[in-house]
Amino acid sequence: MEEKHSLIEWEEKYILGIPLIDRQNRDFIQVLNKLFLVSIAVREIVEQDFIKAANEAITCVRYNFWNEEKLMFLTEFSEHPVHKKEHESIIYNFLNFIDCYIHGNHEESSEFVKFIKSRILSHITVMDRIFAEFILEMIKNGKR
Ligand SMILES: [Fe+2]
Repeated sequence: MEEKHSLIEWEEKYILGIPLIDRQNRDFIQVLNKLFLVSIAVREIVEQDFIKAANEAITCVRYNFWNEEKLMFLTEFSEHPVHKKEHESIIYNFLNFIDCYIHGNHEESSEFVKFIKSRILSHITVMDRIFAEFILEMIKNGKR
């Protein structure tokens, strides 16, 4: 049986061309992979390890979103409110899951990590890309 060592492999299609955001997204994927490894080994680990990995992931994603939103504000990106709502929704899902886990529901941890992975990757490839294109266009036109 093939052993899976990571949930997400970093691919070129995730590169948005904004070094700060790309670096943070890459860091987040590493943290998410770590969370995935912990979640599939859930029987062998102490509950605290999973909570620690989940908290590390949420701290990382919050920091990434905060930086993006700061850039959106500074560049007066018109879709900032919609984008911010999507960030808040992802964070809500994440916090809700951690809360359920802490309160004893350990059944769905691997499924949740897969779910949050697909939400984050679709966010990067759709909404973050729209923002990155806006920034790159702005740079090209010498506005900032
Ligand atoms: Fe974003």
